Amino acid sequence: MCGIVGYVGFRSVSDLLVEGLHRLEYRGYDSAGIAILHEGKMSVRKKAGRVLELAGILQSQPILGHAGIGHTRWATHGAATDQNSHPHLGGNGEVAIVHNGVIENYDTLRKQLTALGYVFHSQTDTEVAAHLLAHNLEEQIILGGSASDIETCLKVVELTLEKLKGTYGLGIMFRDCPDTVIAARCGSPLVIGVGKDEYFLASDASPLVGYTKEVVYLSDHEVAVLQPTGLRIDHRKTGSVFPNVHVLEQVSADIELGDYEHYMLKEIFEQPQTVENAIRGRLDSEEATSVMGGLNLTAKDLRRIDRIVLTACGTSWHAGLVGEFLLEEFARVPTEVEYASELRYRNPPMTDRTLVFAITQSGETADTLAALRECKRKGHPTLAICNTVGSTIAREADGGIYLHAGPEIGVASTKAFTSQVTVLTLLALYLGRMRHMSYPAGRRIIGQLRDMPDKISKTLQCHDKVLEVADKYFRFNNFLYLGRLYNFPVALEGALKLKEISYIHAEGYPAAEMKHGPIALVDEQTPSVFVIPRGGIYPKVVSNMEEIKARRGPVIAIACEGDTDIARVADDVIYVPDVEEYLQPLVCAIPLQLLAYHVALLRGCNVDRPRNLAKSVTVE
Ligand code: AGP
Ligand code: GLU
Repeated sequence: MCGIVGYVGFRSVSDLLVEGLHRLEYRGYDSAGIAILHEGKMSVRKKAGRVLELAGILQSQPILGHAGIGHTRWATHGAATDQNSHPHLGGNGEVAIVHNGVIENYDTLRKQLTALGYVFHSQTDTEVAAHLLAHNLEEQIILGGSASDIETCLKVVELTLEKLKGTYGLGIMFRDCPDTVIAARCGSPLVIGVGKDEYFLASDASPLVGYTKEVVYLSDHEVAVLQPTGLRIDHRKTGSVFPNVHVLEQVSADIELGDYEHYMLKEIFEQPQTVENAIRGRLDSEEATSVMGGLNLTAKDLRRIDRIVLTACGTSWHAGLVGEFLLEEFARVPTEVEYASELRYRNPPMTDRTLVFAITQSGETADTLAALRECKRKGHPTLAICNTVGSTIAREADGGIYLHAGPEIGVASTKAFTSQVTVLTLLALYLGRMRHMSYPAGRRIIGQLRDMPDKISKTLQCHDKVLEVADKYFRFNNFLYLGRLYNFPVALEGALKLKEISYIHAEGYPAAEMKHGPIALVDEQTPSVFVIPRGGIYPKVVSNMEEIKARRGPVIAIACEGDTDIARVADDVIYVPDVEEYLQPLVCAIPLQLLAYHVALLRGCNVDRPRNLAKSVTVE
């Protein structure tokens, strides 16, 4: 929900921080700012709006120095204004801080600090931490400490963290402690890049690409000291931590835009490759099953499982709903999809034979992480289906399956959805074949999965037709998305895509559900998008379309190539390749992604940075 960068070393830090913020901007973009410590002076530049605006300010008001922190914000407390931008200064500028997360007891702390004479310049929760650091520093100096002594600064940080309730990823600099960035983590991600005589701090690894491949993931309750001479990490309770260095696989090309205008369009068109990546090495034709290496559960453990819970948020929850149908059809295991934000407080009846999967692209979604921890706390085997190697959820789960989709930068999730559905299909095959699924049935699924990258490539040829449909309908302000069985989650996903990047109100429903109230919404101003590929209940869905048409509702159909009947009912038809019903989400989602993209563009929206959103929701 925000991007943090930091650096200590030999480089000129200003441009490096700004470049890092550009790479993290998909995580939040309400405002941006940096603080640089140079020759005993703390200089801050910060501004509401995009990182580009901050870069403009730095052009005219440059800052020299080799140690700094930066932040690109997704506001939780206080509007997106210059004053509420990070970094925040504490006291009279003795300390600078950037923060990802929410300080839940900020109001109490603000009152206490105000009573002590501290003057607040923002409405943020973060500023209380800045002044609390300054206050604790003042007290430690009275007790004989020194503002230039790292041990004093660490004591100040510890005293401050003890008072904070909520979540944080912090980057801290003390004005009198040169060439030093202190990082602290509780609930919001932080990664440290290890260089030669230089260290980097970031919310995720993307700013490190091109500078270092060696990273250390900070864990909750750890405090790190970054200085050109070295890295020190302490756990607040257990003391010194030996840095566990991982080697990054990501190459800079992954995060480049290439010839595309937007990351979202690039990632839509990456899907043949990303679905290929998801199945690569995971299809065992000989045994007519899939290869699920990272589950860390034996076949015996898995056969004992009598219930599966999939927990996720947003698009990942929609993928989970497809997964529910897949697992119940192929593995015959009762499966529930739970909103993570609900599961963490709902306490449903689960036993030691309940297997929990967290489905998450970023691996940092606060609600999903909390739900995973709640299930772990109760002793349930918890696995992750995740795209981000080294993310918190990937590290805290007992095992799992990576998507291998490469970084997803566009805020609207696209390739992650199809990769998640692909992995869930592999999982359903794997569990089915260790229970009752026949060899021929397994072979059939493998053959069909192998064809999916080509089928998706073919699906992308609908682009021109989608442009035409988008041009015809982009001015409407209410849409319905309708589908049944495997295409009901696709309808939900299509509605979410349109909502989140074009700001048009769109609702997804099971097509037959229209009769039970929502059809009252239908008139000539309310287009309905029907996901209606070939299938056992095709005639029923056609009837649902007729019911809409009878009320003058415009109808857009996502249908199978060769289906000439559908044009009798639908006003517009976008054709996709004909695939097995259980694989239809992988092709039907794509025209809906493209439709949302082009409608948003026609409405002048920022498709990669939609208002009010951020890529990774690391706050509750
Ligand atoms: C989807 O387009 C949205 N960006 C959002 O719903 C997202 O899917 C959700 O926040 C979950 O994110 P995750 O997969 O990284 O956990
Ligand atoms: N809660 C802080 C604020 O609103 C930080 C938000 C974030 O994580 O970007 O400024």
